[in-house]
Amino acid sequence: MGRVALVTGGSRGIGAAISVALKDAGFTVAASYGGNDAAAEKFTGETGIKTYKWSVADYDACVEGAKKVEGDLGPIEVVVANAGITRDAPFHKMTREQWQEVIDTNLTGVFNTIHPIWPGMRERKFGRVVVISSVNGQKGQFAQANYAATKAGDLGIVRSLAQEGARYGITANAVCPGYIATEMVMAVPEKVREAIIAQIPAGRLGEPEEIARCVAFLVSDEAGFITGSTISANGGQYFT
Ligand code: CAA
Repeated sequence: MGRVALVTGGSRGIGAAISVALKDAGFTVAASYGGNDAAAEKFTGETGIKTYKWSVADYDACVEGAKKVEGDLGPIEVVVANAGITRDAPFHKMTREQWQEVIDTNLTGVFNTIHPIWPGMRERKFGRVVVISSVNGQKGQFAQANYAATKAGDLGIVRSLAQEGARYGITANAVCPGYIATEMVMAVPEKVREAIIAQIPAGRLGEPEEIARCVAFLVSDEAGFITGSTISANGGQYFT
């Protein structure tokens, strides 16, 4: 059995591609999901990857979830904080609920996911942490003050954990996907989406597997000297 990897939001979209890529790379993968039972069941049926239901916005649920995964599969040595949501609205229309839901899932959810697993990584002197941020955390985005704030915050988390984890053999890195062909991006009105694609030099949306390959690289044993970094995979849309 390979190292145990937890991928949050790991049964759909980019997360599903990450789960599969890590399984293919020899990891024993646990994919958590927040609510879509049917999608999770289908994903497990198709891939054989175990799925676990909990909300990353709930700290106690994350503690319990990590315990359950470790009881079933062994110590979690790789964590990919991928779960995320959008609640897009121009700022003057954004409600406090839209703000808070995104903060709770995309930012506090990253804390909640990693925090219970971190002490074990320190004790074992090995860990791989990857946070899925976004091009919109790097450049901001019309109607995404909430989402962009969380994705920029995720980069701050990674750069701090990189400094704290380095002496314990733990790396922490971020991947910033651009616009990827997932349900999240397909939910953007077609006209707006077409305008966005026109701004991507590659002339197309990315594929989830193109993000998954970045993650598989970062969590490999061979990537031990890479920490605090950000891989941008956005078809040339934005450079930092
Ligand atoms: N730049 C400048 N102006 C823009 C704009 C933009 N990018 N997008 C919309 N506008 C304008 C519109 O043309 C419109 O102008 P008028 O009032 O003069 O007609 C105005 O802003 C907004 O119109 P509405 O008040 O009707 O907006 P709305 O309340 O219906 O909201 C929206 C519409 C939610 C903003 C919708 O356009 C939308 O979903 N936009 C996409 C936002 C986006 O890119 N989200 C990313 C999702 S994918 C993701 O998040 C994954 C990732 O990490 C990359």
